[in-house]
Amino acid sequence: MVEPRVYDAMSKPIVGHLDPFFFEITQAVKTGLNTCFGTANEFTVAMSATGSGGMETAVANFVEPGSKFLVFASGYFCDRLIDMGKRQRATVIQIDKPWGETWTPEEMREAILREKPNTVAYVAAETSTGCWTDGKAICEAAHEVGALVIADCVTALGSMPIEFDKTGIDVAYSCSQKGLGCPPGLSPFTVSPRALEWLTKERKSQIPTWYFDIKLLAEYFGGAKRYHHTAPISMFYALHEGLTVIAEEGLENRFARHRLNRNAFVAGIEAMGMEMHVHRGHQLWNLMTPKLPEGISDMAVRKHLMDNYGIDIAGGFGQLTGKVFRIGIMGVLATKRDTLFLLEKFEEALRAQGFKAKDGAMAAAEAMYATSGS
Ligand SMILES: Cc1ncc(COP(=O)(O)O)c(C=O)c1O
Repeated sequence: MVEPRVYDAMSKPIVGHLDPFFFEITQAVKTGLNTCFGTANEFTVAMSATGSGGMETAVANFVEPGSKFLVFASGYFCDRLIDMGKRQRATVIQIDKPWGETWTPEEMREAILREKPNTVAYVAAETSTGCWTDGKAICEAAHEVGALVIADCVTALGSMPIEFDKTGIDVAYSCSQKGLGCPPGLSPFTVSPRALEWLTKERKSQIPTWYFDIKLLAEYFGGAKRYHHTAPISMFYALHEGLTVIAEEGLENRFARHRLNRNAFVAGIEAMGMEMHVHRGHQLWNLMTPKLPEGISDMAVRKHLMDNYGIDIAGGFGQLTGKVFRIGIMGVLATKRDTLFLLEKFEEALRAQGFKAKDGAMAAAEAMYATSGS
């Protein structure tokens, strides 16, 4: 759900795409995004594209034709990275896990030291599974073999810590429509000084895309302010406002709010007698994947919630078709009131389909809030 203040910001008068006021906005957006990413990077922009545009930018700029591109693959968006790597004519090495699982630090290290790739990619928060992958061991091993690391932070940014600098990530991208509480249309994108140096000094071939060439984009958003494309001004107003809302709440408070509502929702789900698909330590803070109970139709549960309450939850797809629900609790909706409402109606919808829910889901969620003092 989009922050109400973001809608207001989008109705402000449009200035030109080279107007000094626009560059004030892009500068403030850069500062806000750096805070969310946890970085001091000089190159941080909002690409005029959705999250997939950020992904394409990362792969087009940092994966050279003929180079070795290693992708940790355990979900739908990992597969998209693989597809993009192949289209860039890289040799793609895929390190698989079943959807919803992640790798131990030893497995990450072993794969990278064995394959010695030029670039490594992983999806920090996999939206198709609800699983978190910590990139620390990936970055350490990748840097030992001289590889760059791309992290997909599309679902995480603004709801969970990314810690770009601490983790050692080189390139990360995200979207405006998830943890940042804005409409879709922009892709936050950040690059480490190390990766920029590789791009300017070591990349041998020309970047095969014009629109997503970050050296050209740097001349627009950076020093020269030279026309590159006509930026979608209202979307920048939206992102600026979304980031202002986040700064006012405080990033740590926002993270804690998401984690608490996740914990309360999961406590309720488990008390009901359902299981989560992802192991506790790797569950996302803003996207939950309870397993579909035997004999229950996910479509019927989703229809009940939509028809009666206008609540939109998703089903599983790919390897998880008919196996999980995918439930986002993020941004303005990550509150005690909305989470309890959702839990209550979700239980009602499951019972209506014949699921024998154990009593006590609401009490378990309430107890979680009580332990946190809220
Ligand atoms: C993890 C992940 N990566 C990439 C994307 C692509 O983003 P978009 O749909 O904004 O192009 C998504 C979209 O949901 C995603 O969840």
